[in-house]
Amino acid sequence: MKQLLTVVSRRTVAQGATELVCRLEQPQDIAPGRFMHLRVGPLLRRPISIARVDHDLITFLFKEIGQGTAELASLRPDDKIDALGPLGNGFPINAINRDQRVVLVGGGIGVPPLYETMRQLVVRGVTCEAILGFDTATSVFYEAEFQALGKTTVTTVDGTHGTKGFVTVALRPESYDVLLACGPEPMLRSLQQQPIEHKYLSIENRMGCGIGACFACVCKTPTGGYVKTCSDGPVFRAEEVVL
Ligand SMILES: Cc1cc2nc3c(=O)[nH]c(=O)nc-3n(C[C@H](O)[C@H](O)[C@H](O)COP(=O)(O)OP(=O)(O)OC[C@H]3O[C@@H](n4cnc5c(N)ncnc54)[C@H](O)[C@@H]3O)c2cc1C
Ligand code: FES
Repeated sequence: MKQLLTVVSRRTVAQGATELVCRLEQPQDIAPGRFMHLRVGPLLRRPISIARVDHDLITFLFKEIGQGTAELASLRPDDKIDALGPLGNGFPINAINRDQRVVLVGGGIGVPPLYETMRQLVVRGVTCEAILGFDTATSVFYEAEFQALGKTTVTTVDGTHGTKGFVTVALRPESYDVLLACGPEPMLRSLQQQPIEHKYLSIENRMGCGIGACFACVCKTPTGGYVKTCSDGPVFRAEEVVL
């Protein structure tokens, strides 16, 4: 589960957002929606979703928000990353069939795992639509990449690109059977209420160990219990969690 990744390339894809392509020690098939816990500094790790996998190449897309992600954004080709993973449970793409109408909804740093998810669904012959929400035009990334896979709508809060508003302005719940989403908690909370039969949410809350041992990532359940985002998730059925 622990492996050393080698950085192959790094580029800026939007303001403060970096794409890092790395080589895995061995080629792997990885279910979409899973993540890697990447070491930053001597002690800490940061969870980053797997945005794309091609044979032995793995792509991460992340926003610089603090020291850990700044460190990852400063890596150069041939640098090594100590990685734990792939970890967690991904989106249940095996349970989705070609007759179902699927919408993928991503907000900001929640967009990356949906890219590999849509790629794998399209390969299986499932028609998908994507709705991607960002704050402003300069934050938008991977619009063309999603468009190459299916109908894609971009929303920005300030209306500087695409449709003005939050992702929900572009959502037509009656048109979908399955919703797959990842993004900030208020967005997920609002999607939880949408009248769509099957809803799966990927939760990106703060983590410690990443492997179920420290309880840093717990999320309440409607029955008064809790689940661990790292090992029980990060993907949950919408009705399984209280956000
Ligand atoms: C399963 C999972 C997958 C993720 N995938 C991605 C991804 O693909 N791309 C990406 O850009 N980010 C992703 N994240 C979020 C990413 O892990 C955090 O942005 C990162 O850990 C921040 O580390 P840092 O050291 O840069 O910032 P820190 O110095 O740790 O934090 C800086 C500030 O951001 C806040 N913060 C840190 N992490 C979070 C968080 N998860 N949610 C809300 N606020 C936070 C802190 O409270 C602090 O105010 C994911 C998180 C999880 C749990
Ligand atoms: S991060 Fe330690 S239990 Fe989930």
